[in-house]
Order: sequence, then C-alpha cells, then structure tokens
Amino acid sequence: MLTGGGDAPGLNAVIRAVVKSACNSGIEVVGLEDSFDGLIEAGRSRVLTPHDVRGIMRLGGTILGTVNRGNPFAYPIETSDGTRDYSDRVIEMFGKMGLDALVCIGGDGTLGISYQFYQKGIPLVGVPKTIDNDIVGTTNCFGFDTAVAFATDAIDRLHTTAEAHRRIIVVEVMGRYAGWIALHAGVAGGADAILIPEMPFDLSLVAEKLRERDRWGSHFSIVVVAEGAIPKGGKIALVEEATEGRVERLGGIGAKVADALGRMTGKETRSVVLGHLQRGGAPTSFDRILATRFGAQAVELIRQGDFGKMVAFAPPDIVGRPLEDVVGRQRLVPLDSDTLLTAKALGIAFGD
Ligand code: F6P
Repeated sequence: MLTGGGDAPGLNAVIRAVVKSACNSGIEVVGLEDSFDGLIEAGRSRVLTPHDVRGIMRLGGTILGTVNRGNPFAYPIETSDGTRDYSDRVIEMFGKMGLDALVCIGGDGTLGISYQFYQKGIPLVGVPKTIDNDIVGTTNCFGFDTAVAFATDAIDRLHTTAEAHRRIIVVEVMGRYAGWIALHAGVAGGADAILIPEMPFDLSLVAEKLRERDRWGSHFSIVVVAEGAIPKGGKIALVEEATEGRVERLGGIGAKVADALGRMTGKETRSVVLGHLQRGGAPTSFDRILATRFGAQAVELIRQGDFGKMVAFAPPDIVGRPLEDVVGRQRLVPLDSDTLLTAKALGIAFGD
C-alpha cells in the first residue's frame, strides 16, 4: 500500500482500514514509504500490523509519507540525459518484494500512474483522495468534508470581524480547477459571493452586489474565491509555473480580488488565504467513515481479484469503478447542480 500526491485528512483512516481488514482475512500488508519511492529504493517499506495502525484514524497526514512529484515514468535523477524512466524498476521491485497486489491511495496524478502500472501488469486497486473532490466516478473523496468544515468555520469567524469593521473580506480556499470547496463552504458559511473556476467572473457584477448590500444596511461582505477561479478574459493566478514532474502552484487570486473590489466599492478590504490549513488536522466523522469504507472495500476487491478498479462512493454504496474510466478526467461543479442553483436562488453572486 502507498499514499501519493498531496495529503488529505483521512489517509491514515484508509491505511488503518486496509491493514485491519486485510489482516483479518489473513493477508499481510506492506506499507511503502513516500508513494512510489517505496518501490524504487530498497529499504523504504515495512510490514504493517494492526498494532502499527492503533490510534491513527484521527490523525491528519499519512504515516507512510507522500510526495507530489515522483512519477516513476519520468523520475528525475541527476544524469546528463536529464530524466530516466523508473517504471521497470518498480515492476522489478514489486516482484522481488513478493507482493501480490497494490493499494494506491491518491489523487488524479497517483491514480493515473497506478493505471499505467496496472496496464504493465501490476494487480492493483486505487483509492481516491483529494480535498478538491474533483475525481470522476465518486461523489465524495475523503478529505473534502474536513476541508469544507474548516473553511466554513473560518468564514464564520471572519463574519464577525468583517461586520465589526464594515469591511469586505475575501477568503481564498483550495480547489485548483474545481470549485467544490468554495461552493460548499461558501453556502455553509453564508458567503455573499463565491467565485469558482467553472464560472469565469466579472468583478463589476460582484462589486454591484456588495454595494447593494451596503444600500440595504449590510455594511460588510464575505467573498469566497477558489484558488483556481479566473476573471473573464484573464488568467489563472500562479505562484509557480509547472516544471518537470511538478504541477503549477496556484495562489494569489484572493489578494487580487480584494484589491479590485476595494477600488470598485471604496470599501476597506482584507484577504485571507486558508491554504494548507484545509489539509491538516483530524478528519471529520464523515471522512473517517468514508475512508474506512474505502479501505475495507479496496481489500475486498483484492480478495475477489477484481483489479484495475478504483473504490468509489455511489451513495449509499461503495463500488468499484474501472480506473480507465476515471483517470485523466476532472469532476467539475456542474453549472446546473442543485447546490449551485440553490446558492443563486439565495442571491449569492458568482460574477457570471
Ligand atoms: O490538489 C489538492 C491541493 O490541495 C490543491 O487544492 C492545491 O492547489 C494543491 O493541493 C497544493 O499542493 P501543494 O501541497 O503542493 O502546495
């Protein structure tokens, strides 16, 4: 078993569930450290027993470590010819270690790599993980509920200070290309405007909404913006361009939106970036249960020899979906989704 990509609250709950349910079925579990690194370098793995996973369900992070670079199909090593493909090494190590199956817990990147290894003959099962909740085929990934709960709490706190000072406060949340966190935390936190990547925004429409609030006596406003939200005709806000083996790093849209809204409304404006706080801390009970069900179902698929699948939440069931139907795609907020239409019905501005 390995965990790959950015961490998400609930990873340890999956690990615990895999270890406990596997051991109860007479299957030994080996934990690989730092994603596929554990199958590239020797000595980066350990047998995990129920004793090793005692008390970890409530812990954020992952006891196995993770990386969000390190695609073995383009693993960067310092040689004169640049990068070298380590995928054959992974397959060789998998055999040498006497492993029978692999559980890959990760987001779209890790699941994509896993699918390539499945095609090369490694029997494996994927478990979807991301706070962004943008993996196709599952209505929820663990970590999302925890991130939304944290962001909602932050918005609640910001309301009181925004109101006290009659300010506009812009809250930047995670969500690279999908606005699930912004939409859900924005609705749950009673935001006045929500900006998501799926709907390029026109700030003059948002400014008008905030001015209107002022006119009828609400002299403060909360604007929630997903890190990947894009102004109409503009560009995504980056702090770092993509490089070999690393995706682009997003950030900065909150400050830009706050600055522009300040100028447009004449109101005092502040911005807050919730950043990695959304990925830390204890998973909510929802995420613990989902992660536990995912872990147990991953073991069940392995017991049945049903490989090349990703466990998924299709309420009320946990099902297996073919990885080939999932990888390389993104689950965006549908523009006709009930939550989005509800937000609009309530008068929340999207700047569209
Ligand atoms: O994909 C999950 C995510 O939390 C994104 O929302 C965010 O852009 C990214 O990870 C940040 O990753 P890193 O840990 O590399 O800063």
